[in-house]
Amino acid sequence: MSSQPICAVRNAALLDDFQQTRALTFALAAPLSDADATVQSMEDASPSKWHMAHTSWFFETFILRDHVAGYQPFDENFAFLFNSYYEAEGERHDRCQRGMITRPSLDEVRAYRAHVDSAITAHFDALPDDALTLLELGVHHEQQHQELFQTDILHLLSRNPLKPALWPTPRRLHNAATAPLRWIEGKSGIVDLGHDGGSFAYDCEGPRHQMLLTPHALASRCVTNGEWKEFLAAGGYDEPRHWLSDGWAWVQGNNIRAPLYWTQDGDWAQFGNDGMQPIDDAAPVCHVSLYEADAFASWAGARLPTEPEWESAAAALDAHSGNQLDAAGAIRPAPARTSAKAGDGLAQMFGDVWEWTGSAFRPYPGFKPAEGAVGEYNGKFMSGQFVLKGGSCATPRGHVRACYRNFFYPHQRWQYTGVRLAKDI
Ligand SMILES: [Fe+2]
Repeated sequence: MSSQPICAVRNAALLDDFQQTRALTFALAAPLSDADATVQSMEDASPSKWHMAHTSWFFETFILRDHVAGYQPFDENFAFLFNSYYEAEGERHDRCQRGMITRPSLDEVRAYRAHVDSAITAHFDALPDDALTLLELGVHHEQQHQELFQTDILHLLSRNPLKPALWPTPRRLHNAATAPLRWIEGKSGIVDLGHDGGSFAYDCEGPRHQMLLTPHALASRCVTNGEWKEFLAAGGYDEPRHWLSDGWAWVQGNNIRAPLYWTQDGDWAQFGNDGMQPIDDAAPVCHVSLYEADAFASWAGARLPTEPEWESAAAALDAHSGNQLDAAGAIRPAPARTSAKAGDGLAQMFGDVWEWTGSAFRPYPGFKPAEGAVGEYNGKFMSGQFVLKGGSCATPRGHVRACYRNFFYPHQRWQYTGVRLAKDI
């Protein structure tokens, strides 16, 4: 057994997490040209170069500037360019104009990253505990941006008529049989929810609290592409009675006919970071909005799970397993296994696709935002957004947990978003 004090072991693990996370971002960006990394394809998406610089700004601002005496910023102008939404950090560049930042170049942003990395590593042992807490937050923040990096470059490349792949792979289909859908009864009665302390979580995941659940069941796997084709064939996008009023207006106003990145030239295909691939009927449907998820559930005679139903079902599962981003590079949702003996439990809860819930992203009883500028991280976004659970194939392995609360607006679908059905029993 090691004789190192526990805090020294914990700190060594944190430095290792920091360095591995920074290295993964560098690796994800390896195929990019300066042009790829600069263009902004829509307001919701940021250029790759911006993600790479903004995550570095987070460490530079909240750790190096605030906790390392005499630290010299890489460039005084970067605070204006790469602050995202922190009002407490002052004026910042317009979000819609991030694609105008043709300079600094991609190479200069890489040099900025290296500058921050070497400063954090050099001063790590002298950082006080509150700086280490912020450094841990910075690592998790960068992991979130690693997923955004993938979804944003996917959106950009999808707008190129040549449909270039970020990571080209041969055309492939799993050709798996679709796992049978079973209904798994969930916990009912009073359940404990939210983060229970002891490991990292964002402020919005607590406080731990109780909730009353009525009898219900969750689908054993996510809705598949094949099932979505049935919804299409049944005129699902043409039938207003399945849709929320806002959703129907969104479908009509934007001429939505299928999930994002689906195209039909004979058979359906879907663009991904591995290029244009035939639709795999057994894989989870991906890149659907909450409106589409809700309409599908209505058509199927079911509903979306609530966040408490999902979280209580996932609490005992291994959040680090499943189809997630790691060195092997999982870039598509994959079919659920079909071994499916009777009594098998819930599949695909972690990884593959973020699962829309019918729950609003609102504070838990007793919620207080974190202290300081990072108190702007979650709390101020608790308006008009819905919770998604479980992570996706683009989520770095180890990043999510049962109580993790992702959130997006109901029309958004450029993330790896999918559907698990639920029903009352
Ligand atoms: Fe950020």
